[in-house]
Amino acid sequence: MSQQELFVDSPPAGPGASEAGGGSRGRSRLGLVVTGMLGGSLVALYAVAAPFVAPALRKICLPFVPATTAQVENVLQALRVRSGSLVDIGSGDGRIVIAAAKHGFRASGFELNPWLVWYSRYKAWREGVHSSTSFHISDLWKVSFAQYSNVVIFGVPQMMDQLELKLARELPSSARVVACRFPFPTWLPEHTAGEGIDTVWVYNAKTFKSQLQQGLTRQTMTTAQEDT
Ligand SMILES: C[S@@+](CC[C@H](N)C(=O)[O-])C[C@H]1O[C@@H](n2cnc3c(N)ncnc32)[C@H](O)[C@@H]1O
Repeated sequence: MSQQELFVDSPPAGPGASEAGGGSRGRSRLGLVVTGMLGGSLVALYAVAAPFVAPALRKICLPFVPATTAQVENVLQALRVRSGSLVDIGSGDGRIVIAAAKHGFRASGFELNPWLVWYSRYKAWREGVHSSTSFHISDLWKVSFAQYSNVVIFGVPQMMDQLELKLARELPSSARVVACRFPFPTWLPEHTAGEGIDTVWVYNAKTFKSQLQQGLTRQTMTTAQEDT
């Protein structure tokens, strides 16, 4: 076996050989850098996009659709005689929480998408309401809203019956609830504000809690009659 056959992987000898070897090494390094950058960009794109796409895969799809300026104004109008604590359920980019804080509320937002929560915190800090706002990365179905006296929800029709029950059980009688764009299915609103897609429905907990109580009493009586 010749020496050349023994070292088949060695770069070819002769004039220009080292230049050719260096060139192919340079190309493979460039290939690695490009592949790494492409892979990194894809991972980054996935990390940013996934929380926005994920709601579509959940049983109840509640996507990020920010409130219009008129909608925010209608919410504030509905709560103009109120004060104290406020929560926006599914707070998006924090616009309702921040607007409420500017009107004197201690305002909190619960939101599943971490990017929106980080952005909301930054915006609250930039707009000078950092100390009267708080934003939580949480699933709305896994937290209790019992401590809030004002509740805002911009939901979707598919979730409103389930949320109705949850809020009727958790909220104190002194609470007020404002529903944006879609009303609750069985609660009777005290009044509405705005029109079209910017309509908000205003509910007093005292009313819907007594409705729930009456419903439960009726249910209990029906069950008792069925048992006898
Ligand atoms: C229609 S947007 C309303 C945004 C904001 N409240 C506003 O009015 O501008 C609903 C928000 O709820 C969030 N969301 C969806 N499912 C959620 C869940 N299970 N828990 C908490 N937030 C959720 C979405 O990411 C989205 O930002």
